[in-house]
Amino acid sequence: MLSTKIAGIGYYVPEKVITNFDLMEMMDTSNEWIIERTGIEERHYVSEGEGTSDLGAAAARKAIEMAGIATEEIDFIICATISSDYFFPGSAFQIQDKLGLNGIGAFDIRVACSGFIYGLSIADQFIKTGQYKNILLVGGEVQSNAMNFSTEGRDMSVLFGDGAGAVILQPCAGESKIFSSHLHADGKYSQALWAEVPACNLKPHISHELLDQGRQYPHMNGREVFRHAIVRFPQVINEALDANNLTKADISLIIPHQANLRITQAVAKRLDLTMDVVYSNIHKYGNTTAASIPIAMCEALAEGKFKRGDNLILASFGAGFSWGAIALRY
Ligand code: ACO
Repeated sequence: MLSTKIAGIGYYVPEKVITNFDLMEMMDTSNEWIIERTGIEERHYVSEGEGTSDLGAAAARKAIEMAGIATEEIDFIICATISSDYFFPGSAFQIQDKLGLNGIGAFDIRVACSGFIYGLSIADQFIKTGQYKNILLVGGEVQSNAMNFSTEGRDMSVLFGDGAGAVILQPCAGESKIFSSHLHADGKYSQALWAEVPACNLKPHISHELLDQGRQYPHMNGREVFRHAIVRFPQVINEALDANNLTKADISLIIPHQANLRITQAVAKRLDLTMDVVYSNIHKYGNTTAASIPIAMCEALAEGKFKRGDNLILASFGAGFSWGAIALRY
């Protein structure tokens, strides 16, 4: 059986930096509250007309370059996003067109903060079965266009940023491989972290009335998310370790979805790990949902936090609720 190797990674964030002080101009918040409750100092927002596929294509070009392949060698595209350029079709199609790969298969998956983990698991199956040989997986989000930048929406709008990360996945017979993936969800909590509208269980699915009610904005029961996140992250990380007879000592770095620094710190504590083996860069980008893990991977690699041959655990928790983990040797 073939294994799947991450042959290249890349990320792209839009140029515009929005600091906590910039947000203080828009709503009743403070740099102190945001840092104390989330660890976020700044985030990147797109410029007018810049969409998820633009960010995804830019990240993809960097991953392709690192993989040392020609763009034309890519034979499938998966894009994990909750903020596609259009309601449909998904951003994978625009990324494909932007890369000049017209004709190859492509699709979006909509698993919020667990999108990259789910996408990596799907791509791994395609590679291991020999279906494809160079899969581009993008995790990308444009969230700044969907936030309520008033004091009423401050619990959410200070958390999120825009960005994209991408990996190139190839078959491998050598050391580098995805060991296993572990995917979970619980739909009972669909409304604990959601954006209701546009809602096709309503007629019409979007209207001035619905917009006036603010039902297009993301809403979150923060405490409920926190309570579940700090249980599910350790649970699925341990599931991935146990499935491969690995211990925490075998892992060079755990790279969690960058939800909130307080969650990451609580997870590290529950795993009895220090923050030098649980990566965090949320202070620079905010919560970029499906982009957060590949962006963190790129920065952790550049900072020398891991290298070829090291074991990693990637883990996520988010809307759905969904949660998951991947154990791999990079
Ligand atoms: N600036 C200033 N005050 C704020 C802000 C803000 N941006 N947002 C909320 N507040 C105020 C509230 O109005 C409230 O004031 P009050 O007590 O006078 O009414 C107070 O802060 C506490 O508000 P809560 O919403 O209860 O804030 P909480 O203590 O739950 O902290 C937070 C909010 C940081 C989101 C917390 O719930 C949390 O860490 N949740 C984890 C969920 C999370 O971070 N999710 C990230 C996205 S989802 C994901 O990626 C998994």
